[in-house]
Amino acid sequence: MGWSLRTIADLSDSEFGQWSKLLEERAGIQLTSMQKSLLQSQLSIRMRELGYDSYSDYYSLVTDGLQGRLEWSILIDRVAVKETSFFRHRASFEYVRRYLQDKINNRQLTDSFDLWSVGCSTGEESYSLAMVVNDCFELAQLDPYYGITALDISSTALAKARLGRYLPRAIEQMTAEEAKRYCTVCNDGSYEIVRKLRDRVCFTHGNVLQIRDMPEVQMDVIFCQNLLVYFRRWLRRDILNSLVERLKPGGILIIGLGEVVDWEHPKVTRVNNETIQAYIRHEQKKQ
Ligand SMILES: C[S@@+](CC[C@H](N)C(=O)[O-])C[C@H]1O[C@@H](n2cnc3c(N)ncnc32)[C@H](O)[C@@H]1O
Repeated sequence: MGWSLRTIADLSDSEFGQWSKLLEERAGIQLTSMQKSLLQSQLSIRMRELGYDSYSDYYSLVTDGLQGRLEWSILIDRVAVKETSFFRHRASFEYVRRYLQDKINNRQLTDSFDLWSVGCSTGEESYSLAMVVNDCFELAQLDPYYGITALDISSTALAKARLGRYLPRAIEQMTAEEAKRYCTVCNDGSYEIVRKLRDRVCFTHGNVLQIRDMPEVQMDVIFCQNLLVYFRRWLRRDILNSLVERLKPGGILIIGLGEVVDWEHPKVTRVNNETIQAYIRHEQKKQ
């Protein structure tokens, strides 16, 4: 089959239900009926590219075998909301800065300082974290190991993140000082994140729903913003429970303000600061 100009019919309610179920089962993403036209346009663009005109034939392709797995990864790229920016919620990043500065001042650093950016999209969040951490260590004239693991389900977002190149408009979210220290201007006018930060971030493809199967690395900081909001409430709580298990004692989990309202966990305490939503893991009790 090849590219086709044939008109594709509207997505019926039952077809919308079938596709929504698939997206929710596989990626956690819950679509509202308002997003039906968005889904329809993404499906039909992809179907035209492949020469399909029936949603059910395309559904069979996506759900069948190895080719289906490849097609699924293309589809999820198109459907996932990837909106992001540098220092998107500045207060959350400034909290990470104070947290690390306190650790440095109180000589509480361990062998490495490890961060996890969950649902990192095109990398702006991960590089913002790297800037904050680098600022703190440079100020303290320390050079310990630190690294940011960044996870996303979208391969195209990750490819862009790895490249580390952004339009001038994206850089406006940084202060002039941050832009000067951490970006170089390319010949085409885009801005590239400096290598010393890019080397600190490892972008990995993965699905947060499969978090229990991921390597059990313990983190100082887990940053998970504007992802849980697309999931059902029970699933948000379930993922947060798993994230808590990935925190070092004394580590912090930062989510988007108001993304989860009714969650608590015996191993963490919410940080007393109304401008952010952060949780700190209790230190282990001495035996
Ligand atoms: C709206 S963006 C948020 C980006 C960034 N965290 C921020 O706050 O600016 C949500 C990201 O989560 C990713 N995502 C959606 N479902 C996911 C899943 N099940 N596992 C991993 N990433 C997922 C999307 O591909 C997208 O890049």
